Amino acid sequence: MDESLRAETRLLRNVSPPDALPGAIVASKSRSNPDYYYHWVRDSGIAVRALLSLYQTAGTLALRQRALVPLVQFVDFSRHIQRTAIHQGIGLGEPKFTVDGAPYAGLWARPQNDGPAIRAIELTRLALTLLDEGEVALVRDRLYDGKLPTDSVIKADLEYVAHHGRETCFDVWEEVRGHHFFTQHLERRALLEGAALARKLGDTGAASFYREQARLLEPGLRRYWQPGQAYITATLDADPAPSPLRSGLDSAVIIATLGGYCMDDGLHEEHLYPVNHEGVLQTTLALERLFADTYPINARSRLIPGVAIGRYPEDRYDGYRTDSLGNPWPSITIAFAMFYYKLAGRYRMLGSIAVTAGNLDFLQHLTGREGNSPVPGEDLAAGEPAFEEILTAIRARGDTFLLRVRHHLGAEGSMAEQMNRFTGFQQGAADLTMGYAAFLLAVEARRTVRSMEPSPGR
Ligand code: NOJ
Ligand code: NOJ
Repeated sequence: MDESLRAETRLLRNVSPPDALPGAIVASKSRSNPDYYYHWVRDSGIAVRALLSLYQTAGTLALRQRALVPLVQFVDFSRHIQRTAIHQGIGLGEPKFTVDGAPYAGLWARPQNDGPAIRAIELTRLALTLLDEGEVALVRDRLYDGKLPTDSVIKADLEYVAHHGRETCFDVWEEVRGHHFFTQHLERRALLEGAALARKLGDTGAASFYREQARLLEPGLRRYWQPGQAYITATLDADPAPSPLRSGLDSAVIIATLGGYCMDDGLHEEHLYPVNHEGVLQTTLALERLFADTYPINARSRLIPGVAIGRYPEDRYDGYRTDSLGNPWPSITIAFAMFYYKLAGRYRMLGSIAVTAGNLDFLQHLTGREGNSPVPGEDLAAGEPAFEEILTAIRARGDTFLLRVRHHLGAEGSMAEQMNRFTGFQQGAADLTMGYAAFLLAVEARRTVRSMEPSPGR
């Protein structure tokens, strides 16, 4: 079976499963060791982005309907869990809900404020799509009502993000309390994109408020990177300090720059950390080098291209327990493929690559040549051989991550949360929703970037 179709089928199995409320999306089908049979706000956001992409690319009315039904159910389920969280005095930073829509009752790392930001980003995209199709009533009714207090999901998320964006919270990996690049980068993005939607719907006061709150996040965001640093630091102000201490090198930084797995950053021009930012490129390279050395599966076989990527160097979570050894993750390795496609798309859109002392290492590593290597100060223009060579290398590098993941797929193309660092076998939560969603989005990104090529790509 075609790989995308397989990913789609497996993703859809985790959306509104029979014993869940419609619109609930489980993080994985595993109900024990580990129990991931919950609706995580963060994970479901990426899943919804993949559903939206299925909706937008569906060839027939029936297929469009098949994607739209769960999307609308997700909107209603999301509003439902927002209400229960508020009602119970927990707030929208609650990361994890049962499939009946109740906040997880046990001890957990909370709040996690990336969830509402990601949900707002993805649903804003859904709202814009629906508005384009003339579904104004549906959008005003269920997605963005422009009222305070609001009874619509996007506005509730934006209000939360606007009021809590500068507070500390737990990180995307649910382990460290502090300020996080991942969370704050996506919060800013949610506010800017949400502001554009608010303005479109005539909620102009809120639009300027959200923009203002986005601006207030910027000084904080600038602290994660100072020129001269080897990479963007994932976390600042950790409290308590994690033990063992962390280097701050973390794949979450790269995933954040995908902006909710979006190829097109056209919506807002004010990029603080676009994918071609020096710090972002250096972080990518540092992570690839690190994991190439850390995980034996990357070293063992020179036959399989592509570095399997994990979360961060000090990771001890093996998918079952936290006193073990971390592994590479399919979903993160796929995110790296997507990163490269997005980078190629961005350079193509810019029409040139400005070579600097800060991106030289990355560019050299990419083309693997010293001889003709670019020189800082040079501006490589689209159409020139040097530019085209780099773009081809970027796309090819993206492909290597997908090849790596494909090499380790489980039975019938299944993906779990992790791949064993020694054997490559799938382990941890089975059929991780995020992995399939990321795969579908990366394949779409690959198609998009190929369609941007001047002559038909290979
Ligand atoms: C699941 C978390 O998301 C993961 O990051 C963590 O290490 C384990 N639970 C243990 O708490
Ligand atoms: C652990 C991951 O660290 C976290 O990001 C994710 O939300 C949960 N697992 C559920 O998949």
